[in-house]
Amino acid sequence: MTTATPARFDSLESFITHIQQRVENGLGELLTGQHDFGHLQQAMAYASLNGGKRVRPVLVYGAALAAGANLERADTPALAVELIHCYSLVHDDLPAMDDDDLRRGKPTVHKAYDEATAILTGDSLLTLAFEVLAQAGPATLSADRRLNMVASLARAAGAQGMVAGQVLDFEAAGTALDLEQLKAMHALKTGALIAASVELGALAGPVLQAGKHSALRHYAECVGLAFQIQDDVLDVVSDTAILGKPQGSDQSRNKPTYTSLLGLEAARDQARALADQGIDALADFGGEADMLRRLARYIVERVH
Ligand code: IPE
Ligand code: IPE
Ligand code: MG
Ligand code: MG
Ligand code: MG
Repeated sequence: MTTATPARFDSLESFITHIQQRVENGLGELLTGQHDFGHLQQAMAYASLNGGKRVRPVLVYGAALAAGANLERADTPALAVELIHCYSLVHDDLPAMDDDDLRRGKPTVHKAYDEATAILTGDSLLTLAFEVLAQAGPATLSADRRLNMVASLARAAGAQGMVAGQVLDFEAAGTALDLEQLKAMHALKTGALIAASVELGALAGPVLQAGKHSALRHYAECVGLAFQIQDDVLDVVSDTAILGKPQGSDQSRNKPTYTSLLGLEAARDQARALADQGIDALADFGGEADMLRRLARYIVERVH
């Protein structure tokens, strides 16, 4: 088993920048040089490269550091998680779903190409995620670990995870949810993949003591929900140019959100309280979890 990477990053910003570059390079390698059937390969690159904050990969690498793994071991899980996320955005924006025209500062895939291409692009990114994870990479995760990662990611992404959340979101448009229902929906549509990011990062490292493993899970649950609450907040307070996606999309579709239910200030308070809870959950970790602690704050303070 590999040993922990010494702290090479003196700030969260430098860590995030490093991961963004690392993910961009990794995705670039996966998505270039393949045969382009129709415009599929091009559309997959359009949906995945040069965009996004890469928060989920940052969480994978952050959790890997907390678990004592070196960054190389987190490369394939980080790419897999980001590919699933990119697919989810392409499908989330479709006319049948949120019907949004702008994503990451560019026309959405169904606008730049067409709906059929957008559906197939999502399908292909989703499938590629599992291909990447299942293959033995240079950092040689054991077959057992990869199998655990595949199972964990599949569960988080599928009908008991993110897709379930999207179904609830779709059904909830125009209706009023209570706080418990809203929390459950957010935990599935966004929380599940964020939890999987932390889980896969942890699985890249040496076997963790049970208490620490459940602490990481608790952390992930808190920051996952906080992340979607902040997304709801930004839909109200930010603007389209900064967000790179249409501000006010939730309101225009009558989506129940933390801001529509609780109001802006209470939603913000909830997000901050969850970040604090996430940080508290890491009490048994030392400096190896500092990136995760800083990320919890970043997630609720981010402006896009
Ligand atoms: C947006 O996710 C979709 C949600 C689940 C809230 P991000 O805010 O992480 O989007 P990118 O990847 O930075 O574009
Ligand atoms: C998206 O939630 C959750 C996904 C699974 C993609 P939103 O619909 O709020 O995400 P944005 O605001 O369009 O990025
Ligand atoms: Mg949506
Ligand atoms: Mg949306
Ligand atoms: Mg949103």
